[in-house]
Amino acid sequence: MRKDFLWGGAMAANQCEGAYLEDGKGLSPMDILPSVQYGRKEAMYHPEIALEKDYGYYPSHQSIDFYHRYKEDLALLAEMGFQAFRTSISWARIFPNGDDPSPNEAGLAFYDHLFDECRKYGMEPVVTICHFDTPLALTRKYGGWSDRRLIEFYLNYCEVLFKRYGDKVKYWITFNEINMITHIPFFGGGMVIKDQENPDQIVHQAAHHQLVASALATKLAKSINPEIQMGCMLAAGSFYPYSCNPKDVWAAVEKNQEVYLFIDVQARGKYPSYAKKMWTEKNIELQMEAEDEEILRQNTVDYLAFSYYSTRLAGVSPEISGRVADGNAITTLRNPHLGITPWGRQIDPLGLRTTMNELYDRYQIPLFVVENGLGAEDVLEEDGSIADDYRIEYMEQHIEAMKEAINDGVDCLGYLSWGCIDLVSAGTGEMEKRYGFIYVDKDNEGNGTLERKKKKSFHWYKDFIKRNIE
Ligand code: BG6
Repeated sequence: MRKDFLWGGAMAANQCEGAYLEDGKGLSPMDILPSVQYGRKEAMYHPEIALEKDYGYYPSHQSIDFYHRYKEDLALLAEMGFQAFRTSISWARIFPNGDDPSPNEAGLAFYDHLFDECRKYGMEPVVTICHFDTPLALTRKYGGWSDRRLIEFYLNYCEVLFKRYGDKVKYWITFNEINMITHIPFFGGGMVIKDQENPDQIVHQAAHHQLVASALATKLAKSINPEIQMGCMLAAGSFYPYSCNPKDVWAAVEKNQEVYLFIDVQARGKYPSYAKKMWTEKNIELQMEAEDEEILRQNTVDYLAFSYYSTRLAGVSPEISGRVADGNAITTLRNPHLGITPWGRQIDPLGLRTTMNELYDRYQIPLFVVENGLGAEDVLEEDGSIADDYRIEYMEQHIEAMKEAINDGVDCLGYLSWGCIDLVSAGTGEMEKRYGFIYVDKDNEGNGTLERKKKKSFHWYKDFIKRNIE
């Protein structure tokens, strides 16, 4: 294990900050999505409806009010001994319309204070530049990332960030879960796909623009401060074949290729050999500029950050079709060997070791676990305690599996648990799908005092970090 291995946790602006129009912020995609009880699935897969409809209550508008409570929250994370804290910058806080000629100073000042506060406690900020957070104005005006002009707007935004925070933030991530764009185009790329359009064409063109933007951002960062470490970010979790039936094995190979495609570009500098066949099969005609291949080749990332919640399962046998688990937007067959959460996530600690070995074998650059955790309904007892032993067990098993992977030879920069303070779920908009070590008094309808309470896992993680850094 590295001596400078980082233990900590992660959140994202759109799921924790709230203050959705404060100090000049513009709208973000999450700001027009209701929670699942009021139609979130419809809204996120058909954003054309969400753009028009009034759903009444929007969980992101206040979230957990991290915007006003970050000092109190960071103090709690520091008390646990966090060495790193991942969050994202809300693009629309800096450029409310995405294409504004100059940045919003009030937004910039907020992140200055936030990163200074992290540094005060010796916490390394790990910063995602775009976490499902392309300004909504760019959706309305340009249709999101399928328009090549977004590369320029993103780079303007990056330049402001690197110049302003380059000395405070060493670890950057260009796009959260870049492969998610193929599953939820509105989250990943701010796109609204029309009925008559080929979704694969739109999504892969947009992904290409993000890949070029990511490469150019890497180049830019290094020119501003060579110490900056740039990372890509994958929604990881290997696809297993359902059985040793060669057809199931092949199905898994193809599913994994769909996921690797993006990281192949970001980490190896070029599209993989199977990309052309994939584009042909999906009727995709990718528009590339002459210089794109060279840009991608020359500006690969320094590390591969990833989220891990579960492995996935692929196969073709007729008896298994239809038995699916909701793997958080990435559909997978139900694995009979694994337990499953009420939200449809299968639990597979060993799969983390498998996934890390596969990723490291393939890319040979440091990995960084920047999301892992258990969404669960916690019970607040009358005495104010929250006994989340299930979360402790989940994390112990996953961290053990990660350590095994490191022992196998995988180079890993750190482990950041997801949603270290309860926050709004990206997939469902719920508050009561909780991931945190710190409970936030707020329910799915938005009621609650927002008071923070330490769960049992808070004390466990605090002891755990202490034992692991001694
Ligand atoms: C990841 C995202 O996919 O999973 C996070 O990067 C998200 O934004 C996390 O919150 C957990 O998913 P959910 O739907 O339970 O919030």
